Amino acid sequence: MEEQRPSWTSRCSFILAAVGSAVGLGNIWRFPYIMGQNGGAVFLAVYLLLIMTICFIPLFAELAVGKITKKECIGAYESVNPKLKFFGVLNPITGILISSFYFIVGGWIINYIFLGFINPKISDYSEYFSIFTNEAFSNCVYALIFLFICILFSARGIKRGIEFANNFLMPLFAVILIGLIIFSVNLPNAYLGIEYMFKPDFSKLNSHLFLSALGQALFTLSIGMGAILTYGSYIKEDKGIAKSAYTIIISDTLFALMAGVMIFPAIYSFGLEPNSGAGLVFVTLPYIFSQMPHGDIVSIAFFVLLLAAAITSGISIIEVPIAALVERAKFSRTKACVVLYFIISAIAIPAALSFGILNDFRICQKTIFDFLDFITSNCLMPLNALFLCLIAGWCIKISGKQFINNNIVAALFDIGLRYIVPIILIFLLYVGLK
Ligand code: PFF
Repeated sequence: MEEQRPSWTSRCSFILAAVGSAVGLGNIWRFPYIMGQNGGAVFLAVYLLLIMTICFIPLFAELAVGKITKKECIGAYESVNPKLKFFGVLNPITGILISSFYFIVGGWIINYIFLGFINPKISDYSEYFSIFTNEAFSNCVYALIFLFICILFSARGIKRGIEFANNFLMPLFAVILIGLIIFSVNLPNAYLGIEYMFKPDFSKLNSHLFLSALGQALFTLSIGMGAILTYGSYIKEDKGIAKSAYTIIISDTLFALMAGVMIFPAIYSFGLEPNSGAGLVFVTLPYIFSQMPHGDIVSIAFFVLLLAAAITSGISIIEVPIAALVERAKFSRTKACVVLYFIISAIAIPAALSFGILNDFRICQKTIFDFLDFITSNCLMPLNALFLCLIAGWCIKISGKQFINNNIVAALFDIGLRYIVPIILIFLLYVGLK
């Protein structure tokens, strides 16, 4: 049986799991299409600036709160002040709501892997995508299979489940990604895609682009849901949080850049535009694969890559409510996983059906799927990140000096944590909710 409070085998296992959490659909599905909608290289420039500076602060704070309190989110906030318990509860709730749509996209990936094997000749991928997402039964079944895979790893515990999944899936992910990049940059006219990524046109700079870049940076770093806090609470030794935070940021950014270098050259090589939105990975890319020599193998490799990334992130999303059920409700890990499976299914099934028979059911004029995406990305995640910075800065009084050797950086961190990041997050919330 696993000890009462599990911990990572080593710092390396923790980093791998945190990078596994960060690198997910956000890097390979969301990053390229948001970049495609926001002018390419100029978006990348702003994104890099934000992720290396401002985003370091909440990421570091989540890690530090987890490591200092050694508790899951609710217990972590409660240990600071019992009145703060409510802010902790918001984290597992956010996790459950995010899972409910993240796992549907995970289900789509499994569908595309099967499609690669069956390899029917599809003439219109846009039509295929809308038909199968409208198909209530298969949309639900695939989402539940994806959820089941993640829950299975989680049920095995931190070392035998989560570490094992990351140790196996992250190298697989990296190898497939490098293989696909080599393939992609060798396509005719691939340089056009590279140019699109790295030659900024600063006349396209605007406030919407800035906010999109910030939202994407927070989402990809898994900030604002307690996943990093919970993972941080399983760290044993007491040094090196700043180094860990930067390692997570740099690895995540490298993987996002690599995903771009894999996707954009292929798009330009086939004379297409990268601004097709959420359908980029499920409509544009499959079309490109279908036109390539050995496209079926490339397609399977790509969706296996996406699946590996989605599973390691999915595991971290459900770890937040699992840890809460285990440590607060005193459930065994297996019981917590079973209970969570049913809770997430109960929300994910209507969300999956919202592409088809429940399409007319609207909350705030949005389908259930879009509403879950909106309420988590635009509202709950920035709100949780805001509470985290305020609690870490003003209640726990985390100081940069405790963890950072350079005095100037430590002082900037303190100002950022207490004033700058909360103000930016309030602004992000205001615009997101408008
Ligand atoms: N960072 C993940 C991605 O980029 O796909 C998504 C995510 C994972 C968000 C875990 C939040 C979280 F707590």
